[in-house]
Amino acid sequence: MALVSAKEMLQKAKAGHYAIGAFNINNLEWTKAILLTAEECRSPVILAVSEGAGKYMAGYKTIVGMVNGMLEELKITVPVALHLDHGSFEGAKACINAGFSSVMFDGSSLPFDENVEKTKILVNTCDVLGLSLEAEVGSIGGEEDGVIGQGECADPKECKAIADLGITMLACGIGNIHGKYPENWQGLRFDVLDSIQELTGDMPLVLHGGTGIPDDQIKKAISLGVSKINVNTECQLVFAEATRAYIEADKDLKGKGYDPRKLLAPGFEAIKAKVKEKMEIFGSIGKAD
Ligand code: 13P
Repeated sequence: MALVSAKEMLQKAKAGHYAIGAFNINNLEWTKAILLTAEECRSPVILAVSEGAGKYMAGYKTIVGMVNGMLEELKITVPVALHLDHGSFEGAKACINAGFSSVMFDGSSLPFDENVEKTKILVNTCDVLGLSLEAEVGSIGGEEDGVIGQGECADPKECKAIADLGITMLACGIGNIHGKYPENWQGLRFDVLDSIQELTGDMPLVLHGGTGIPDDQIKKAISLGVSKINVNTECQLVFAEATRAYIEADKDLKGKGYDPRKLLAPGFEAIKAKVKEKMEIFGSIGKAD
């Protein structure tokens, strides 16, 4: 199946009270692990690419080529969207030109009026091309490609104003943080989520910082209108741990050096297991059928 916009999968998720996982990709192994797991689980999936990962993987066109090749060669039949994560205005335009099926424009650090103006332009472009568009209000804490936020909460009225522009999905800060949560974290602000959901109606809401949020809070957020959950750090942690354990076990040394395919195999399996675990929690297994 060719790449699809995330619109239909997210609208179905919102109506069905489950969430679609958006998993960041960083290399071939991650991409293949996520696609194969989605197919095995019959789950729609979103492959997310940060601008930093885009540069690392030799540019957006390279990524589009790799993902399209895998969809065909691995015979993937579940819906897959290729999505820019936390994009700048220029980054969003570059991904649209390169063949992504979905983009996020993160204008949350801009003055609100500028966020609105730039989001509006991208709404028009994405509408014409049939792509999905994510916008953000209220920055998400933690560090993402050098941008540090404070885990603030979005203003529900601003959320409504951006949602009314005709975007596909809305990311809004509700006390969530990228990466590991600090010990004194107070948890998600369900009161804020509730107000945003009330004003934005059917709009699929996006929860960034999916790593480290307790399962019961994830499930409650889904019940209050979250339909897309982003996960990155947890996959990084299991990948690094599995690779470290392989090296420590010294499996391949014996005078021959490391075979990169063997070296990365445990990390590949670890990501498959992590993605499946997340899809179970999010409730997306079997929803591709
Ligand atoms: P985590 O790294 O906390 O899983 O967050 C990922 C994310 O929100 C990417 O946009």
